[in-house]
Amino acid sequence: MSLEAIRYKDGTLDILDQLLLPQKSEYINVSGVEDGWSVIKKMQVRGAPAIAVTGCLSLAVDLHKNTFQTKDDLYKFVAEKMKYLTTARPTAVNIVDAERKLTKLASELCSSTSIDVSQMHQRILEQIECMQADDIAVNKAIGDHGAKHIAENVAPKGLKVLTHCNAGALATAGYGTAVGVMRSLVKNGCLEHAFCTETRPYNQGSRLTAYELVQDKISASLICDSMAAMLMKTKDLSAIVVGADRVVANGDTANKIGTYQLAIVAKFHNVPFYIAAPSTTIDLTLETGEDIIIEERPHIEMTTMNGVSLAPEGIGCWNPAFDVTPAALITGGIITEFGVFTPAELRSKITEATAK
Ligand code: MRU
Repeated sequence: MSLEAIRYKDGTLDILDQLLLPQKSEYINVSGVEDGWSVIKKMQVRGAPAIAVTGCLSLAVDLHKNTFQTKDDLYKFVAEKMKYLTTARPTAVNIVDAERKLTKLASELCSSTSIDVSQMHQRILEQIECMQADDIAVNKAIGDHGAKHIAENVAPKGLKVLTHCNAGALATAGYGTAVGVMRSLVKNGCLEHAFCTETRPYNQGSRLTAYELVQDKISASLICDSMAAMLMKTKDLSAIVVGADRVVANGDTANKIGTYQLAIVAKFHNVPFYIAAPSTTIDLTLETGEDIIIEERPHIEMTTMNGVSLAPEGIGCWNPAFDVTPAALITGGIITEFGVFTPAELRSKITEATAK
């Protein structure tokens, strides 16, 4: 069974504090939207899908605690809280997608003459409370589409696959996107070895992905970020699969800082480069990666580790949390729950699939 980053039942929400991993596995309670915003901002929960699920469930916690006099009051509450949650981290788009869907539902229910305020309350809760199960099902579909595509287009077995950052069970409601592809490759007997980067500065690769791979007993090695080119040159790497925080209409993709340089090196070495992401990460409102806002994180996340200083006081720092990989470097494809698409066909395929 894969790790549970998010535990929710009947209005009680606990998240695994990812800042403590891998040393300690401790859950912390999220008592409502304020707490939800704070655990997302501090990165105690992180990864684009997990941010959306945690944010929405923190709203569900508040909805369980409150009653509303009018449907209009309830609509305003949902719209305001969801808007606030989207401000915690600006690059990951899944929570913006969730905000749009929940606000639309609340608005429709508010205008409907056939339901009262308590039915509206119940419908909104139901919509939020199915998000965990939906996300796991989507991730399994991504894993299976990706594994099939790689086996058919790269090699049927003996695959060596590299991932970056953590796009695993910890970054989602379970199973993972990029790590989900690795899990499906293992299930199909195709994966010989997994590699994960350390992912400086915040080490999501060494702290979290390596933890997941060890927990699942997947044959795997950790590399420092600076070893990726050497890995591709000498270790016969089959493919790279990474997650995404936002994929825009032309296929340009924002993901953890360092993804862009991996994609450049992959192109040079003819290693297929894949993005694995649910349709909720695809933002067709933006045309190109130029329009994506890149979050910058505090310098202290670069200059210290577990309170130990790694750099001299007084040094300036630049700490962008994400970069944008141009669509032209995504040579393997974009793996979604609906199938694997080239960047050029993404817009039409996603529009068609989500219209059904
Ligand atoms: O800063 P983080 O740890 O939230 O960044 C996470 C990533 O970049 C992941 O690759 C992305 O969110 C996809 S998670 C399925």
